[in-house]
Amino acid sequence: MSKQNTPRHFLSLMDLTAEELHTLIERAIELKRMLRAGETYTPLTLKTLAMVFEKSSTRTRVSFETGMTQLGGHALFLSSADTQLGRGEPIEDSARVLSSMVDCVMIRTFEHENIERFAAHSKVPVINALTDLLHPCQLLADMQTYFEHRGNIAGKTVTWVGDGNNMCHSYINAARQFDFKLNITCPEGYEPDSTVLEPAKDRCEIIRNPLDASSGSDLVVTDVWASMGQEEEQAKREKAFANYQVNDAVMAAANSDALFMHCLPAHRGEEVSASVIDRKDSVVWDEAENRMHAQKALLEFLLC
Ligand code: CP
Ligand code: NVA
Repeated sequence: MSKQNTPRHFLSLMDLTAEELHTLIERAIELKRMLRAGETYTPLTLKTLAMVFEKSSTRTRVSFETGMTQLGGHALFLSSADTQLGRGEPIEDSARVLSSMVDCVMIRTFEHENIERFAAHSKVPVINALTDLLHPCQLLADMQTYFEHRGNIAGKTVTWVGDGNNMCHSYINAARQFDFKLNITCPEGYEPDSTVLEPAKDRCEIIRNPLDASSGSDLVVTDVWASMGQEEEQAKREKAFANYQVNDAVMAAANSDALFMHCLPAHRGEEVSASVIDRKDSVVWDEAENRMHAQKALLEFLLC
């Protein structure tokens, strides 16, 4: 069967093998080098990526759109506000129609089930650019950043501080695929989804005290306390997460060469102190830039 009839999708880090993911990270590092060396590489000439956004974005939109341009292709921005998706056209119909014209579809949406339904009816690869459950593209960038700064993450310890949200879930999947230990420190009631955690429980541990959780870590990661769609819970969450800020004390408990990452956007004074995110050797800016390099490697993997 041709590639067209059996598209590979990237809805979760678990959709690729560990070997494929490692190859993809190496390729992202190489594509970054090629770009910096001024080498032109356009394998996606005349290919179009549809980018469906049902939530806001800065990094995801710019990285996919610029990445497609650099690879010789085109990206089409589609928001639910001005397409028929936002007016109730069935997901299945939208998938059939969009995938009959474009070569790949990237979707940022709410329920993870919606992207699965779209993918099931799509003739072309579908990429998860964030759902309420997962944010796998961000993990490609985070892993690339760790590999660039510290080498292989296998056998290392990562500490997730804060909400058991889409980013936390993707870190749990990454722990399985990249072979690291994950400490999760969160208040009661904000644990990750048990269906994501259960298959990874041999390498993930919930530790309530952030200093204990961070102790001996090679990487400390956090994310906003209230994700997109949870804006009304902001005040309640500020109270619940008050003791779960990544600050100098949390970083001091980690290993002396521990990195700090945040998918951004960040709220200084909430989930992270300015002293941590703005320190001179902060890698969060590399992490953001790597979205583009890692997703170029993903697009090449799925489309070439
Ligand atoms: N990290 C991330 O996905 O950023 P955006 O919401 O700006 O795309
Ligand atoms: N957890 C955040 C990530 C933003 C990139 C959200 O879903 O809003």
